[in-house]
Amino acid sequence: MAESTSTSAPAAAPQPSASSPASPPPATSAEPTPASPTTAGQPTTESQIAVDTNPIYHPQPRFDNDDDDNDSALGDENAVSTASISSSILQYRKLHGRTFHNFGGADKVEYWAPNDDAQNDQLDINHHLLNLALDNKLFFAPLSNPKRVLDVGTGTGMWAIDFADEFPDCEVTGIDLSPIQPTWVPPNCKFELDDASQPWTFPDNYFDYIHIRYMIGCFKDWTAVYREAYRCLKPGGWIEHMDCTADVLSDDGSLPKDSVFVEWKKVFKDAGDKMGQTFEVVDNDNYIGWLKEAGFKDVKNTIIKTPVGSWPADPKWKEVGQFNQYMLEGGIEGLGLYIITNVLGWKYEEMQVFISKIRAGLRNKNWHSYCVWGAAWAQKPYE
Ligand SMILES: C[S@@+](CC[C@H](N)C(=O)[O-])C[C@H]1O[C@@H](n2cnc3c(N)ncnc32)[C@H](O)[C@@H]1O
Repeated sequence: MAESTSTSAPAAAPQPSASSPASPPPATSAEPTPASPTTAGQPTTESQIAVDTNPIYHPQPRFDNDDDDNDSALGDENAVSTASISSSILQYRKLHGRTFHNFGGADKVEYWAPNDDAQNDQLDINHHLLNLALDNKLFFAPLSNPKRVLDVGTGTGMWAIDFADEFPDCEVTGIDLSPIQPTWVPPNCKFELDDASQPWTFPDNYFDYIHIRYMIGCFKDWTAVYREAYRCLKPGGWIEHMDCTADVLSDDGSLPKDSVFVEWKKVFKDAGDKMGQTFEVVDNDNYIGWLKEAGFKDVKNTIIKTPVGSWPADPKWKEVGQFNQYMLEGGIEGLGLYIITNVLGWKYEEMQVFISKIRAGLRNKNWHSYCVWGAAWAQKPYE
C-alpha cells in the first residue's frame, strides 16, 4: 500500500468540502479546493510520438495493424466473457507508436486508452495519488470481513493487490481486457482476462464486494453492467464505483472560463457520444441513476477533488497535486490519442498541438485547478 503523508484535512487551500457524502458539493463551490476524503470524496512526450515513422490515420478500421491477421480469432474470443491468454490477445493493436488491447477485437470491445508501459505507469501513479488523497482508504462502503471481492477493469491491479494485502483472508479477483497485471501478487489475489460488458461468468450471490474504478467511456450500457454486479453480489454485499469526470476546474476563479480545459471536456463529451460510451458517468450523478435502475437502493456518494500542481498550501494536498500534474502530463497523450484521432477524426498533428496546449495548462502555476472524482456505493438488499 502506498504511503500517506497526512490524514488531516487541509488547513488552507485546498479546503475540505463541507458537504455530506450523500450530497457531493458542486464542483465550483466557493472554496478553492479538494474535498477532504474523510467527509466525502478528473480527468508521451512528442519525442516518443516521433518513433512512429508512418502515423497514418485509419478512420475504419481504426488501428495501424488492422490489416494483419489478428482478426481471425476475434469472434471466438468475444463470444465468451472469460479468456486465457491466447496469442491474439497478446498481439496488441498499434496506433501511432502506442499499443491497445486486442481482447475480442478492438472494434467489438472499444477501450480508448493504451495498454503500454507508458500508460500503465500513469495508472500506478494515479493509484498512488488516490491513496494519498484518501489516506490509504481503498473503499468507502462499510465492509466487514469480506471473503470474496471482484475488481472490474483492474488495470495494473494495484488496487486489487492492496486490497488483498489488507484482507489476507479474502479472495480477490481482478478482471481486465489486457494482461498487464504483475505476476508476483499476494496469494489471495488473482487476475483473469474478461470483458465485463458481456454477461459475467460468475455465479449468482457470489461476491461480498464488487469494486469498479476509473472506467469512464468503457461501457455502452452501465445499467447492464451494474445488473450483472447485482446478480453476482451476495445479499448484503456491496458495490462501489469510483470514477472521474473529464473536468479540470477551479473554485477561486483562477482558471479562465475559456481555458483549454473547456475543449478537453468537449472532446470527451463528443467522443463518448460518438462511441456510444459516455465519459459522463459521475457527471449529473448519472452513475447513481444507473445503479438504481439496476436494483440498488439507498446509494451513497461522495466527491473528491484532486488538485493539479503544487499550488495547495497543505502539504498532503500539495503532494497529491504534484503527483496529479506529473501523472496527467505524462498520460495526457495516451488519454487523448485514440478518441481525438480515431473517434473524432482530427489529424495527428492537430492532436499534438492540442495536447501541448493542455500540457501548458497543466503547468500553469497561476491556475488553481483540480480534477473531480466521485464515488458511489450501495448494498444489495438481504431479501
Ligand atoms: C483507466 S483504466 C483503470 C484501471 C484501474 N481500475 C485503476 O483504477 O487503476 C481502465 C481499465 O479498464 C479496462 N477495461 C476497459 N473496458 C473493459 C471491459 N469491457 N472489460 C474489462 N475491462 C475493461 C481497461 O483495459 C483498463 O485496464
